[in-house]
Parts: sequence; structure tokens; C-alpha cells
Amino acid sequence: MDLDLWTEKYRPPTLGGIIGQESIIESLTRFVETKAVPHCLFTGPPGTSKTTAAMAMAKDLFGETYNRNFMELNASDERGIDVVRNQIKNFARTMPSGDAPFKILVLDEADHLTSDAQHALRRTMESYAQSCRMILICNYSSRIIPPIQSRCAIFRFSRLDESGISKRLKYISKKEKITLDSSGVDAILYLTEGDMRAAINLLQAASSIGETITEKTVYAIAGSASPETIKTMLTDAKEQRHLESLESLRTLIYNEGVSPVDLVKQIHREIQILDLSHSQQMSVLEQIAEVEFRIGEGANGEIQLAALLAHIGIGSDASE
Ligand SMILES: Nc1ncnc2c1ncn2[C@@H]1O[C@H](COP(=O)(O)OP(=O)(O)OP(=O)(O)O)[C@@H](O)[C@H]1O
Ligand SMILES: [Mg+2]
Repeated sequence: MDLDLWTEKYRPPTLGGIIGQESIIESLTRFVETKAVPHCLFTGPPGTSKTTAAMAMAKDLFGETYNRNFMELNASDERGIDVVRNQIKNFARTMPSGDAPFKILVLDEADHLTSDAQHALRRTMESYAQSCRMILICNYSSRIIPPIQSRCAIFRFSRLDESGISKRLKYISKKEKITLDSSGVDAILYLTEGDMRAAINLLQAASSIGETITEKTVYAIAGSASPETIKTMLTDAKEQRHLESLESLRTLIYNEGVSPVDLVKQIHREIQILDLSHSQQMSVLEQIAEVEFRIGEGANGEIQLAALLAHIGIGSDASE
């Protein structure tokens, strides 16, 4: 097995290689064609191509002079005003090299910049707009001060759709000569919910167990329960087969190593399959929130989850 991180190895180098996010990629491609790039703000959940798109756009725009005209700063290492005064200003004020119309500075995780730093940044963005365009990247745009937002074209990246991710996973599996069966793909999609980075990382981790990746390998490596197991446990609880349901709970926690917090999240996700009445469902949802809070505060996971399963059983009793 090679030691490269597949997420880096398979990061699309050009805008054309990026899967999904069609309307955003279309706009960025137009920026490259017209060589007119505004300051941009890329925002959206993790692993949805923000950094990839920024790097690909700069590569498409600059070609050979990419290294000299592009800089990426990760704002979560240095978050203070000094980074704006020194590194950012120094890069932004020098003229672009070669025939590049301007330089591009990517500020990753810009939502971690302190508010002072953000205020300093807004002056820099204006003063040096001739020589440098900025791409700010963050997960939550609400953490960026409004004057910066108003200086940027905002692009909202959404979670990638399942067909795009599964296509990519199959492509990578083929390149890496591993067999990924369809249950394996479904399991990865289920667990990663539109996060391409998480999906590729999970694929790489699963490939270390064996050449063939199935649903079983994926859930084992992720330390998660399969939706089927959760469904069985919940159905047993609802139909008052308490012993069976508690047995499944213990197996999940102690034999399969699933963390109680993750179990609560998965139960929350699967609860609608129980076909509970409206009021029962409300009551169970409330209980799930309570259990999640208690486990977060340090309560014993098995006891809390057993109580939740009992609550589901009692709920169906009362409705009879
Ligand atoms: N649209 C895509 N097509 C193909 N691969 C992708 C795509 N989006 C992401 N990836 C893969 O996922 C990895 C992570 O993507 P990226 O760094 O762009 O995420 P991000 O949106 O910047 O996430 P974060 O907010 O966590 O920084 C990339 O290295 C690449 O391998
Ligand atoms: Mg990123």
C-alpha cells in the first residue's frame, strides 16, 4: 500500500476535473476565460471542493507562473492582526510576475481570523486590489464581518450528491486496483453524507484491510453500526423484545466499538423507520436529545441508551 493520501493524490488539478458544483464551476471558468476575478468568498460544509476549486482556478489562470502568483495561507495557524500586516500585505503589494493580470491569495479557514484581523483585511483588500485578488474560504459565512462579505462575490458550496461521489470512488478504486462492491459504495455514502474528503479517506482506510471492500469492511473501519443493525435494534425495542434489543446494544458498544454518541446520532437518523405515531415520535425525539446531552456530560452510554430503548418500548405500550 502506498503512503500517499488519496485525497491529495486525487485532488482535481483543473476546474474541468471537479465533479458537481456545476453553477459555481461555470462562473469560475468564466472568470478564467475573461481573466477578470473579483474577490471571492467560498463557503460551505467540509470536503465540498472549496480549496480544490480555489487552487484549480489559480492553476487554470496562471499556468506556469502558478507558483509565483499564488499563495495559500491557512488562517487557523495564525489568526491575529500580524498575519494581515505582514504576510498578507507583503504578498499583496508586489506586482504579479509573468503576464499574470494579478496574483491570487487564498485565505483558508478565514472564519478563524480574529475580528481585528478581519477589519485590517478589508483595507488591504481595497488598497491592493490592483495587484492581488483574494479568495476567502470558510465553513460559516456568518463568521465573516459584513464589510468583507460585501467586498466579495459569495459562492455557496453544497454537499456533493451521491452519484458524483460514487463515481469518484469507483474511479479511484480502479486506479488503485481495489475491488469496491456496491454495498461498500452505499455504506461510504451513508456514513459520509456528501463530504468527498471523508468518503475518499474512508475508502483508503478500508482498502488497508483487504483488496475487496464491502459494507462490512466499511462499517468496521469506521467504527459505525450498519443501518440494518440499528433498525433491528429499534424494531426489537418497539415490539418489546427488550432482551434482544439490549443484546444488540451491548454488542454494538462492546464488540464493535461503536461510540455511544455516534449511536445516538444514528438512532436519530433512523427513527422514522419505526413508523411511530406523531406524539410518540415527538416524545422519542425529545428523549434522544436528552440522552445525547447526558452522554456529552459524561453519563454512562450503555445506561442512557438502554433507557432510550426502554422509552421506545413503553411508548408503544401506551398507544395500544
Ligand atoms: N468535486 C470534487 N471532485 C473530486 N474530488 C473532490 C471534489 N471535492 C473534493 N474532492 C476531494 O476531496 C478533498 C477535499 O476537498 P477540499 O479540500 O476541496 O475540501 P474543502 O471544501 O476545502 O473542505 P474544508 O472546508 O474541510 O477545507 C480533495 O483533496 C479532493 O481529493
Ligand atoms: Mg479547505
